[in-house]
Amino acid sequence: MKSIHSKSQLLGFLSVFAMFIFSNGRTINSNNELIRAVNLGGWLVAEGWMKPSLFDSIPNKDFLDGVALQFKSVTTGKFLAAELGGGSIIVANRSSASGWETFRLWRINETSFHVRVFSKQFLQIESMGAKVVATSTDSETSGIFQIIRKSDDPSRVRIKAPNGLFLQAKTEDLVTADSNGNGQWGNNDPSVFEMTIGQGFQGEFQVTNGYGPLKAPKIMKDHWNTFIVEKDFSFIAESGLNAVRIPVGWWTAKDPTPPKPYVGGSLEVLDRAFVWAKKYNLKVILDLHAAPGSQNGFEHSSTRDGSVEWGQNDESIKESVRVIEFYTARYATNPSLYAVELINEPNAFGVSLSVLTKFYSDAYTVVRRHAPNAFVILSNRLSGEPKELFPLASGMKDVVIDVHYYNLFSDIFNDMTIDQNIDFIKTNRSNELQDITISNGPLTFVGEWVAEWQVRGATKEEYQRFSEAQLQVWGKASFGWAYWSLKNINNRWSMDWMIKNGYINL
Ligand SMILES: *[C@@H]1O[C@H](CO)[C@@H](O)[C@H](O)[C@H]1NC(C)=O
Ligand SMILES: *[C@@H]1O[C@H](CO)[C@@H](O)[C@H](O)[C@H]1NC(C)=O
Ligand SMILES: *[C@@H]1O[C@H](CO)[C@@H](O)[C@H](O)[C@H]1NC(C)=O
Repeated sequence: MKSIHSKSQLLGFLSVFAMFIFSNGRTINSNNELIRAVNLGGWLVAEGWMKPSLFDSIPNKDFLDGVALQFKSVTTGKFLAAELGGGSIIVANRSSASGWETFRLWRINETSFHVRVFSKQFLQIESMGAKVVATSTDSETSGIFQIIRKSDDPSRVRIKAPNGLFLQAKTEDLVTADSNGNGQWGNNDPSVFEMTIGQGFQGEFQVTNGYGPLKAPKIMKDHWNTFIVEKDFSFIAESGLNAVRIPVGWWTAKDPTPPKPYVGGSLEVLDRAFVWAKKYNLKVILDLHAAPGSQNGFEHSSTRDGSVEWGQNDESIKESVRVIEFYTARYATNPSLYAVELINEPNAFGVSLSVLTKFYSDAYTVVRRHAPNAFVILSNRLSGEPKELFPLASGMKDVVIDVHYYNLFSDIFNDMTIDQNIDFIKTNRSNELQDITISNGPLTFVGEWVAEWQVRGATKEEYQRFSEAQLQVWGKASFGWAYWSLKNINNRWSMDWMIKNGYINL
């Protein structure tokens, strides 16, 4: 397909393709069109950067799940650290802060937290005595901590331990939980720390756990009911797009009673999306964007604290296969179900190729059981080799490899000019895509792209050139493409805005 250049050639090719499909006994409308899709991101899997207002009224919202905190003792002048990264004592002797000096919160409610260290153990008080250690691998038994901020200087804090007393850095290598914490917040008070707030997450876990079980259900329902509505589907169809890629989380398959902190009601919303897709003749690519435990450590996979725990045990894989089976069985009879993407962006840092291969094989089998003709999409691993799934795909029918191409998220784009950005699409990306689009291989899908770059202050015309170049190159992917995303407070990331304002012409 990569040799096709003109529209008429494309049409000619497509009708031959369609006839071929027809003669194989497949319905003609299932396979005869390249996918031109938009992602419905930030809807059923929340992402705060796409809609910050969703997070606005969370109480104590500096302290959401996974936020990275560092604490410098005012008396030792050094940072608290989990010695050896965890499994040992807490010390106050590190002069600079990175991994071992970072503590991540697991929020219980707005005032109470478990605290996780670099190697994933939780902070606790030694059973005999008052020494603070990071040895527990079980959050439940580790104990509950609170962070008390000085009212007129919120970066000055005390840390209240499960025993009701406060942490203090008695010396550089002795941190104990035995201070009354009632001093004047002075620089001679070993229970006082200067806190730095580092990387945080704003995903589905944070928003639901942040609001808590009383408030979250209504907040999420309002979001689902307003962020994407029926008229968006009619707009998508009128715009010349033919499909939507819908990111979903694993918890929606557990509706109406998903495990905490997720809230019920999302399955009904997904059902509605399928009704609208059918009504407006749009195909649906169902995309498991958030798998149990997080497959990539990003907020878009609903990570709790940035760690990748999916695939670390058999259960998370089995659970994910059940989730894929649930979704496929539920929507198999809807003519809009076009493809099932088994998992989005598994991360090579955390997910091995062999674990992923096992999951893909099992999940492929369950999709086939219910939807013999749906396409099955395998997302490449982040930081994986572009063709590493080819051996697996060769044993599968109607299989697609998903690649995500952004001119972002890498230093190589930092100083690129407008023309260099466009050249990168036309040369480098085009070559990459051509490389994996081979005649007897899996189909190829650019399942995420955006007309955004590191360039600042570009004109509308320059954005048009950029989106045009991408549309041309992604048009050679043998399955198709999908823009990220339909709605976003950042205009370039909103295909809705980009089309309505003439930045993208389809
Ligand atoms: C937060 O959780 C702790 C520990 O379970 C509990 O003691 C406290 O009352 C809770 N606070 C709120 C505001 O719910
Ligand atoms: C911090 O204290 C621990 C425990 O005494 C010690 O093993 C470690 O070497 C110290 N680290 C630094 C950077 O001084
Ligand atoms: C893009 O491809 C060109 C030509 O192959 C190469 O010289 C250049 O280094 C590539 N650019 C990047 C940023 O990889």
